[in-house]
Amino acid sequence: MGVLIKNGRVVTAVDDYFADIYIENETVSQIGVKLDIRADHEIDATGKFVFPGGIDPHTHFDMPFGGTNSADDFDTGTVAAAFGGTTTVIDFAIQTKGESTFKGLDTWHAKADGKATIDYAFHMIVTDMPDTRLPEMQKLADAGVTSYKLFMAYPGVLYVDDGTLYRTFRQAGLNGTRICMHAENGIVIDEIIKEAVRDGKLTPQYHAKTRPTRMEAEGVHRAISIAEVAQVPLYIVHLSSADALDQVKIARMRGVDVQAETCPQYLFLDESIYAGNALDPFEGAKWVMTPALREKWNQAVLWQGLKHHHLSAVATDHCPFCFNGTWRPGDAAPFQLGKELGRDSFTKIPNGAPGVENRMALMYHGGVVEGRLSLNRFVELTSTSSAKTFGLFPKKGTIAVGSDADIVVFDPNRTETISVNNPHTHHMRVDYSAYEGFVVKGYPDTVLSRGRIIVAGSELKTRGGGQFVKRARCEQLLR
Ligand code: URP
Ligand code: ZN
Ligand code: ZN
Repeated sequence: MGVLIKNGRVVTAVDDYFADIYIENETVSQIGVKLDIRADHEIDATGKFVFPGGIDPHTHFDMPFGGTNSADDFDTGTVAAAFGGTTTVIDFAIQTKGESTFKGLDTWHAKADGKATIDYAFHMIVTDMPDTRLPEMQKLADAGVTSYKLFMAYPGVLYVDDGTLYRTFRQAGLNGTRICMHAENGIVIDEIIKEAVRDGKLTPQYHAKTRPTRMEAEGVHRAISIAEVAQVPLYIVHLSSADALDQVKIARMRGVDVQAETCPQYLFLDESIYAGNALDPFEGAKWVMTPALREKWNQAVLWQGLKHHHLSAVATDHCPFCFNGTWRPGDAAPFQLGKELGRDSFTKIPNGAPGVENRMALMYHGGVVEGRLSLNRFVELTSTSSAKTFGLFPKKGTIAVGSDADIVVFDPNRTETISVNNPHTHHMRVDYSAYEGFVVKGYPDTVLSRGRIIVAGSELKTRGGGQFVKRARCEQLLR
């Protein structure tokens, strides 16, 4: 006997109908009108939507970065994701320069296996790729890691040169895998940063001022050009500006296989927030992330891009650092440092912000309630598209017989105020909310991961049980 979800309005990327859903052995086994089945658990979804579980294709749990470590690990991060209606994350494993990508993969398995509450997969961040190690990429794809992230930003840390880009792109294309690109001209940006520092411009505001959108657009253009020549499908991560989106549009019109994601922070927040407040100008450090938040007018352009399919998905780039370090109860000092590392200079603020828990509610409210997206497009952008792009579909990303029962029963009438102090909206291990005070109408009520009820109402019902998911190659998706 399994779980029966009754009387819900089932919405996928293409469907919208009233039905009951019966779940057995982790997958959906029957969908029908008024199913007459006895189940262990019955969930009454009257007046509620039944959505495929959210997929967040861009998280950084337990990531060493910026002289510290991101504050959420696979335990706290996946619990927070579950509360927010996300049932799969694709996190970024990191290859250390000079070492094998498999060492990076082992490290990420050790961080996640046995800890996660929802299912997870990995992209691989490549920091160097000599010819001798190119064969690893095929084996990595066999292990279910079928996408790579490379960085044009962060010189001296994650940055790779154009030669490495081309070499890795070419091999990824030959293997039927995908490239994810952090596209920003980090070399030029570092020069602009040096000018600011020389002039004593050290407050968080200068994080945005030293990262012009032109340098993002240039990176996107260059990544697209290299991918086109190397013949590899390209996915631009965390696209933040109209300037950069123009480059994606032009390339897509030319027929290039390029997609791009944006993130809620670029749709709901803008660069004015870096000014901080009268009490503490450093408050702006909470939103120091890369790319930086942009001028507000970009938001409308990005929403249009989502609606008209120029942008393909909404991810969070969840990479939280506490404002005042991460503390364990009873400890005399934080066990991880946070944004305070950069009090004397914005260049030392760890880059990243929290959001894995807020994505679905923000996108439903800003998209569906405020009339910018259809219900189907909301599902597509928060779940289905990433499943298709990253080799998880139709196991994930839809509600269909045989698919994993990753399901969100979503209450369109539940209103929440997102806040670090609201126990319904904040389970992330970070001492602030990037969306403090935002009121959202519509919130996940019950969340299932492979048929297990993990969240019901405002309670966590199951901790742990998330599994690593091997992803298919792009070429397999075409068959
Ligand atoms: O500021 C950000 N985005 N931190 C995470 C690393 C990255 O670039 O995705
Ligand atoms: Zn990035
Ligand atoms: Zn990221």
